[in-house]
Amino acid sequence: MRYITFALAKGRLAKKTMELLGQIGIFCEEMKDEKTRKLIFVNEELKLQFFLAKASDVPTYVEYGAADIGVVGRDTILEEGRKLYEVLDLGFGRCRMCVAGPESAKELLNSKQLIRVASKYPGIAKDYFYHTKHQTVEIIKLNGSVELAPIVGLSEVIVDIVETGSTLRENGLGVLEEICECSARMVVNEVSMKMEQERIYDIINSLKKLL
Ligand code: PRP
Repeated sequence: MRYITFALAKGRLAKKTMELLGQIGIFCEEMKDEKTRKLIFVNEELKLQFFLAKASDVPTYVEYGAADIGVVGRDTILEEGRKLYEVLDLGFGRCRMCVAGPESAKELLNSKQLIRVASKYPGIAKDYFYHTKHQTVEIIKLNGSVELAPIVGLSEVIVDIVETGSTLRENGLGVLEEICECSARMVVNEVSMKMEQERIYDIINSLKKLL
């Protein structure tokens, strides 16, 4: 029997995913060692493999079939636009993709002016402004702490995920428009879905019952 390989987005999402998988009898002892520098973990008995990757790389591993199954946020799935099947909403990691900024930027969003939008999600930002709002904007790609951009005058607004809203609040910013809801999703490689149909459906169905 071949291994079924899971690619998990590093961090909190991976931890929650392993907790959830544990409840349907899928586990990996090797992974529990927090000090390990190993990159790939195996459960020989169940013929499963697991690895942790940077969230934005998870869809890439799954599209190319280097992983059969991935767990990653919908924000990343939308941004990466890879060819894969999204099979399950795992329910955790809930947040909203929003346009945010100072209250004063609200006007600019309704004025169809050329504004600057900073984001870690340039693809989502572009799609929203060009195809949903039909507003021409300049998109500035950042890699983190995006809330800084409107404060220091790099952009008028940002497109980012909002979970509790406290980062925005503590920086005098707020949600101006909501783009979509996001949460952790299970994704599957298109070929694996056919070749390993039985084993993968078993996993999906057990999770469905649990959720
Ligand atoms: C994310 C996001 C917001 C914050 C939202 O950033 O980009 O900054 O969390 O959470 P909140 O609404 O609960 O405050 P992350 O912590 O991933 O760091 P980064 O901005 O450096 O990428």
